[in-house]
Amino acid sequence: MTIETDAIVLGAGAAGLMTALAAGRRGRRVVVLDHAAEAGRKILISGGGRCNFTNLDTDPARFLSGNPHFAKSALARFRPADFLEMIGRHGIAWHEKTLGQLFCDGSARQVVAMLLAECAAGEVDIRLSHRVVGVSGGEGFRVETDRGVFRAPALVLATGGLSIPRMGASGLSHGLARQFGLRVTPTAPALVPLTLDAADGGWMRDLAGVSLEVLAQCGGARFREAMLLTHRGLSGPAILQVSSYWEAGRAISLNLLPGCDAGAVLREAKRRRPRVEGRTLLAGVLPQRLAQALAARHLPEGPVGEMPDAVLNRLGQILSGWRLVPAGSEGYAKAEVTRGGIDTRDLSSRTMAARTVPGLYAVGEAVDVTGWLGGYNFQWAWASGQAAGRAI
Ligand code: FDA
Repeated sequence: MTIETDAIVLGAGAAGLMTALAAGRRGRRVVVLDHAAEAGRKILISGGGRCNFTNLDTDPARFLSGNPHFAKSALARFRPADFLEMIGRHGIAWHEKTLGQLFCDGSARQVVAMLLAECAAGEVDIRLSHRVVGVSGGEGFRVETDRGVFRAPALVLATGGLSIPRMGASGLSHGLARQFGLRVTPTAPALVPLTLDAADGGWMRDLAGVSLEVLAQCGGARFREAMLLTHRGLSGPAILQVSSYWEAGRAISLNLLPGCDAGAVLREAKRRRPRVEGRTLLAGVLPQRLAQALAARHLPEGPVGEMPDAVLNRLGQILSGWRLVPAGSEGYAKAEVTRGGIDTRDLSSRTMAARTVPGLYAVGEAVDVTGWLGGYNFQWAWASGQAAGRAI
């Protein structure tokens, strides 16, 4: 049996559902196909179950892409306020947690329920547990699944990136883009914990669980947020953020006392408490376990009053400019998103349509646009989905 429709959306995630509801509202007949048994699974697990669904500070500069201008058009035409209007219509209560990040007061389920209700209002036909067997072009598009064949003049690639394969992430959109002659930029795990080798990480393993605010820098980007030491290396928001800018062999720099002249802080502490040990002095400005480990590595035994200022200055330099070359990342299994993807040079920034293949669109994480941590990736999914849904 072949089902004829106006548009087929591959992927019932954030971007696919937004595309479908926008096109459905305009009277288009839309079929959404997904191999998962449930729609919007990443939405459900996002933000610790409360979905950090957008960020008030959304700005194109907070997205990585081969073309930093590409996201501007879609982001300008569907803003956080537009998503909030939809959230408001569905009576979903929300709050700002920090740094412009908006979360549901209740559950991420409310966001999925809202998207499904909006799709239902547009009579979108959502078909889950459908495995895509093959896609061909020609006169429109033909999608063969293990449960039937679908044909339409428009096809939307919305199956996301490669992150969290155990949740069904696949390279389907990238593969189909290549099949239709679109370029795909190299992909890498992003918003991901970084690992350290034995030389850097060995002494830090005992510090797993220690967390502190740092200024982390990599590849020209800087983030002042929390860092978490783990058994394998470094995590926490500051590290996830810089991971998107990290490449193999590149150093990251950490300031453990952001906003202070670390040497001056240590010298002043010595003046006030000359009889304390180095680890006690450091514990005044750093978490205790980290203070002990750093004192054991960088300070002599004995009261700080007997330490030359030069020793404290040297430690101050280490604390404010700690350079590390991560051994790697924890990979797609732990990455919140995928960097890279369908090359923006081959897409219209206004409609997300492929420049050379009439009727083909790509939205969301499958495209080479990656947001910072903090609701930016969902905002991109909503905005790119709306751009395509209004054009189909
Ligand atoms: P998404 O991955 O959501 O959807 C793709 C859909 O395609 C899925 O339903 C999948 O089953 C389907 N699919 C894949 N392969 C297929 C195939 N071969 N055949 C058929 N269907 C297929 N972002 C944010 O802004 N705020 C947050 O709080 C979080 N939190 C968060 C937590 C965790 C743990 C992760 C892993 C990620 C986040 N993110 C996030 C990132 C966010 O989830 C992500 O950027 C969006 O879900 C991307 O939306 P898409 O619709 O593009 O892909």
